[in-house]
Amino acid sequence: MFMRKKLVAGNWKMFGSLQRNALLLDRIVAAGSGISCDVAVFVPFPYLGQVQGLLTGSSLVWGAQTLSEFAEGAYTGEVSAGMLRDFGCGLVLVGHSERRNLFGESDSVVAAKFAAAQAVGLVPVLCVGETLAEREAGATFEVVVRQLSAVVDRVGIAAMNKAVLAYEPVWAIGTGVTASPHQAQEVHAAVRAYLAGLDGVVAEEARILYGGSVKPGNAAELFAQPDIDGGLVGGAALVADDFLAICQAANR
Ligand code: 13P
Repeated sequence: MFMRKKLVAGNWKMFGSLQRNALLLDRIVAAGSGISCDVAVFVPFPYLGQVQGLLTGSSLVWGAQTLSEFAEGAYTGEVSAGMLRDFGCGLVLVGHSERRNLFGESDSVVAAKFAAAQAVGLVPVLCVGETLAEREAGATFEVVVRQLSAVVDRVGIAAMNKAVLAYEPVWAIGTGVTASPHQAQEVHAAVRAYLAGLDGVVAEEARILYGGSVKPGNAAELFAQPDIDGGLVGGAALVADDFLAICQAANR
């Protein structure tokens, strides 16, 4: 059976300062030898140079929280995939619910960003997830499959081999309410079943992270689920002890 290596990724969102970043990353790098899962951080654009300097030569990978769907051009304020490569990024978040819901990114824009990332060899981490209203309406699977298929229809199923997926129920993000391991596993299994309907190997190898109030106290139980391959961590990724404890939970 194919063994999927766990990945724990911190999404710093719009938090940080030069000083705080250095303190946090120093702690994480120092703990590095005790961590056997893959570890990544998604940082605000201005700190990519700092993070590149601090993490080059470590086992951590880093990336940005979004990117432009365009390769270059007169798009004031945007940042291209190629620019992220210049700063050593290996990964990039695509379609985070805060981008979709607060900044109006549609499924088709998300698909274009996914393609732009892969065009320069960045690994997109495609985020999907339903709102509370959608869950209560019984539309969870429909929403998640719609978000996924918008991307697959554009790039093809084989491209999912060079991507990571993240299920982040919107109602669990930053709320302290975590999806129960059972609730999360149910959606992760549905995502894998959707992929399996298109390509069995892609489905088996795809890493599907869970995100939404992952904390040291709930990480081990979530990561023990058969289709949960790690975590996308917001608030707890800003506290070195918490983030490291979550990484330890993925070691098992
Ligand atoms: P929290 O862990 O703060 O709920 O954030 C989750 C998230 O959005 C990670 O991308």
